[in-house]
Amino acid sequence: MRITLSIIKADVGSIGGHVTPSREMLDRIAEMVGAVKGSLVLDFYLGSTGDDISILFTHREGVNSERIHKLGFDAFMAATKVAKDQGLYGAGQDLLKDAFAGNVRGMGPAVAEMEIDERPGEPFVMFMADKTDPGAYNLPLYLSFADPMHCPGLMLSPSLSRGFRFTIMDQNYTKGDRLIELHSPQDQYDLAALLRDNQRFSIESVHTHDGQIAAAVSTTRLHNIAGKYTGKDDPVALVRAQGNFPATGEILSPYSIGHFVAGCMRGSHVMPLMPVKRNSPISYFDGPPVVSALGFCVREGKLSGPVDLFDHPFWDHIRDNVARKSVEMRQQGFSGAAMLPYDELEYGGIVEKMKVLDTRFKVREDK
Ligand code: F6R
Ligand code: MG
Ligand code: MG
Repeated sequence: MRITLSIIKADVGSIGGHVTPSREMLDRIAEMVGAVKGSLVLDFYLGSTGDDISILFTHREGVNSERIHKLGFDAFMAATKVAKDQGLYGAGQDLLKDAFAGNVRGMGPAVAEMEIDERPGEPFVMFMADKTDPGAYNLPLYLSFADPMHCPGLMLSPSLSRGFRFTIMDQNYTKGDRLIELHSPQDQYDLAALLRDNQRFSIESVHTHDGQIAAAVSTTRLHNIAGKYTGKDDPVALVRAQGNFPATGEILSPYSIGHFVAGCMRGSHVMPLMPVKRNSPISYFDGPPVVSALGFCVREGKLSGPVDLFDHPFWDHIRDNVARKSVEMRQQGFSGAAMLPYDELEYGGIVEKMKVLDTRFKVREDK
């Protein structure tokens, strides 16, 4: 069966700061989406990571479906109302427009979608990250799809050995979608040259050599849409697993690094990415940046799962290591590598401060 997997995610309010949404908000969304299960929507899953709620829909409407996007938008509007009634913080934060206008992209919520022909067994992983931006997936996806150090399938499996096609978006370009396609292994060094810059370039999708979609990432940049700080983009991703795609373990392997990403406190720091269990809140220094991974299978649109892929004793050790890296980075406070470069700082206040300070500089007169 040809089906579409769509994740629509938004932060529309949370308890105790930018920490976690309320049960009542999730219930309201479940009620709204549940009402069209079996008609518009084949199946759905609802979960949170940090202060973001993600809705995973299975349906037959294709990607960029106005009906599915509207359902997601309306569900988040309804959850916003609940959040307001409960006095939650940042109610409606990611809904940058009041009325739906055909496509939820560009309205605040993040979207990752793929249309697939279901294989007889169709496993995939749903990633949800909070307190970071889409570039956080650059390194893990590169390592899973292009590096035999993490994906031995690239050496051992004839189909994976044929490599993958990466579609990469230039996040600095705001007039439209500026994209480039690169192939691994042929373009390996070019790929690395772009993907090292997580703030400017981010992977939007990965395809097999024969054009099957393998991974899709939400690449919305909230501050590009809103023109000002509204929160980090907190990206979601879908990655197909097994067979002609990397094995689930090859997809998870790079998250053992706890690589440093942009985000955490006030979206303005550099901190390591911690793999966490499903529905985890955030904590230390409004972070650390977190990512959850849920494994599903889908048959005629019906979901089995999720299995919580970071809920295993192995990841406790990784979490300890990420906590240690976080504290070490925080010891240098605002200095140098601990904070993002000037144009990535997500509060405008520093711009004003710099303008004032600039007028106080004097060029010393030569003797
Ligand atoms: C980062 C984030 C938080 C807030 C911080 C201040 O993405 O969501 O770190 O930036 O808690 O929030 P406000 O300005 O809402 O008080
Ligand atoms: Mg928030
Ligand atoms: Mg968030």
